[in-house]
Amino acid sequence: MNPEANPIVVLDFGAQYSKLIARRVREAKVFSLILPFNTKASDLKALAPSGIILSGGPASVHEKGAPVPDPGIFDLGVPILGICYGVHVFAHMLGGKVEPAAKREYGIAHIEHRDGAGFFKGIDERAQVWMSHGDLISKLPDGFTAIAQTENCEYAAIANPGRKFYGVQFHPEVVHTPQGPRILSNFVHEVCGCPSVWDMGSFVDVAIESIRTTVGEKKVICGLSGGVDSSVAAVLIHRAIGDNLTCVFVDNGLMRKGEPELVDEVFREHFHIRLHTIPAEDLFLDALKGVTDPEIKRKTIGRLFIEVFEAEATKLGHMDFLAQGTLYPDVIESVSATGGPSATIKSHHNVGGLPAHMNMKLLEPLRELFKDEVRSLGKELGLPDEIVWRHPFPGPGLGVRCIGEVTKERLETLREADAIFIDEIKKAGLYRDIWQALVCLLPVRSVGVQGDGRTYEEVCSLRAVTSEDAMTADWFRFPPDVLQRISNRICNEVRHINRALYDVTSKPPGTIEWE
Ligand code: XMP
Repeated sequence: MNPEANPIVVLDFGAQYSKLIARRVREAKVFSLILPFNTKASDLKALAPSGIILSGGPASVHEKGAPVPDPGIFDLGVPILGICYGVHVFAHMLGGKVEPAAKREYGIAHIEHRDGAGFFKGIDERAQVWMSHGDLISKLPDGFTAIAQTENCEYAAIANPGRKFYGVQFHPEVVHTPQGPRILSNFVHEVCGCPSVWDMGSFVDVAIESIRTTVGEKKVICGLSGGVDSSVAAVLIHRAIGDNLTCVFVDNGLMRKGEPELVDEVFREHFHIRLHTIPAEDLFLDALKGVTDPEIKRKTIGRLFIEVFEAEATKLGHMDFLAQGTLYPDVIESVSATGGPSATIKSHHNVGGLPAHMNMKLLEPLRELFKDEVRSLGKELGLPDEIVWRHPFPGPGLGVRCIGEVTKERLETLREADAIFIDEIKKAGLYRDIWQALVCLLPVRSVGVQGDGRTYEEVCSLRAVTSEDAMTADWFRFPPDVLQRISNRICNEVRHINRALYDVTSKPPGTIEWE
């Protein structure tokens, strides 16, 4: 049985939480897909879904142009769960009434529930939930009953068990609804009858089969960066097609301390993957001589990467496929809150500039997965924690962290400071609490005193942020003693640095990187 057959489809009404809903369903071992809210019922039917979840969204059903699903979804004979806006829209379409609430409800509430044919199985009689809405259902559609209420909300959950239509006013997908995962699990298992068959083990089997079918005896090339996505993609493809995969690692001299060695050890020595490491430090540093403008740096590094990669690919003979570690959030079509699907498909950073004349098809075996799923896949495939849990690292590498001119000596200084920063974060057990930690070497000198002498040396800035998806970020609150240790070590152990600053800028208005 194909574990991805009969998925749960999440129709996205523009909620930031749609991805969370899809992830919770997958955590319940059922495959889920996110599709735009206006996906045609006939297209949905073709997918033979086990159930459909209508997500929340920022709109109100009374707004002009408010997003509505294809009414045909109600005739598919498939169970439906509406969440927040999702329940308003279906209640409204099925003849109920939705009105602005006297008071906008936002925050924690408690539901008391009645039996909903398994929907609330195992849920505490009084359970905490997270509410966030301006509208309320004031009259139920025919055939529906209330199955939960809160102090302020008579219809906190509604059901038509005969048709297997359910709706909740609260958000079961967020952490502030502690038993929310169980409610979603009940919907997919008890109501939709899905078996628990989707996990990383089953994903590996399906993915390997599909890579073999797509690639056959053809050749695949994959650019490795040392990051988790390209690493996991490479190891997965290697499992499927062995030596028909060749990996290329461009050592541009802008990597972190020990990175080229790690890539070599993991991929060549441990996994026995065909790996071509191209030493290109001189080429990159020559081209960066005298360049201080961030955009010119980025473009120079990007252009050289493509040139080096292409030259190597040409040497290898014709490659049919280019493998990329593109993830699901990069491919989900996002919808605009006001209706018409804006359908912006983000292009992946690294795909950007590869020239069309290389004439390769893309192979993206991770395009169904979320980041945390890629990490568990990496573990499943035997990649070391050091790669699986690696913080994101930008394509232009230390080039955009060496503010001002990029020279071999300054890179060396930055690399040492960066290694100490990361080492102390790991020793303090904080590495996984932080989205990304980085050091920038500033184009400033400062006076210091060391031993008996006065110094006039470089200044570095330390940055560590928490984030969900790098779109927004907050600076990480270090315990002071950890910051002190980091600063002491950097200023004492790294030649040419005599001052360390800690960056307390959030994003926005700052960005994560400095350049
Ligand atoms: P910013 O600095 O814009 O970065 O807040 C958001 C995330 O993207 C990474 N980043 C890059 N990744 N090529 C990449 O592959 C780039 O040019 C690039 N610039 C920024 C950054 O490290 C952060 O995770």
